[in-house]
Amino acid sequence: MRKPLVAGNWKMFKTREEAQRFSSELVPLVTGLSDTEVLICPPYLYIHQLVEAFEGTPIQIGAQNVFWQDQGAFTGEVGPAMLESVGATYAIVGHSERRQYFSETDEIVNKKIQAVLSSSLHPIVCVGETLDEREQGKTSTVIQNQVMRGLSQINEKQAQALVIAYEPVWAIGTGKTATPQIAQEVHAHIREILSRLFGKTVANTIRVLYGGSVKPDTIDALMAMQDIDGALVGGASLDVASFATILGCKG
Ligand code: PGA
Repeated sequence: MRKPLVAGNWKMFKTREEAQRFSSELVPLVTGLSDTEVLICPPYLYIHQLVEAFEGTPIQIGAQNVFWQDQGAFTGEVGPAMLESVGATYAIVGHSERRQYFSETDEIVNKKIQAVLSSSLHPIVCVGETLDEREQGKTSTVIQNQVMRGLSQINEKQAQALVIAYEPVWAIGTGKTATPQIAQEVHAHIREILSRLFGKTVANTIRVLYGGSVKPDTIDALMAMQDIDGALVGGASLDVASFATILGCKG
């Protein structure tokens, strides 16, 4: 019922030429891929170029961040209307690196989600606990707060465009993937919160992705879990061969 979504988050990696090489190597591998929705979120600079490079393939292009206004005197920012105009279809919102290094609060995340939902883009809303929070038994509370505050004032209809990504901060870029069971437990909790907010029917259509050191050899066990509907992949999405393996390309 929920079509899996695998999204690559390139973070601040690759030059223009490297992005170009990546796309020309990936294109021949992804023809025929139809069971999974595939997304790549490069730095803003390469969105347009990659939209063109992947035209006619199942690969969509998204942004790693977005501002909450469409235009104005906001030096350095990029809004949803601009992303739409270059062909992006998704925007990651509230990644833990944005929360940690750029002081993004749940209130800011909420403004961004509202702005993205007013456009044709889909937000991928990231939530996740730190190691400290997990060790202190606060995971459920942290997740509940991030989801509830991030999705405040979103209605049932808008909620249908949402994607949530559970990314335990302790698993990002560390090589420590959450076990499928640990991830499933949090995913089920997220779906229960979504049910309370938007009703069971809508909650059952919202995809909840797992992110945090997803690799070719960990993807299958994660995807086998009931409430894991795809992955947000950082490091392993930078390499064509490992990303293609994660996508299940026969190549
Ligand atoms: P990672 O990053 O796969 O390198 O852990 C995931 C993410 O931050 O989205």
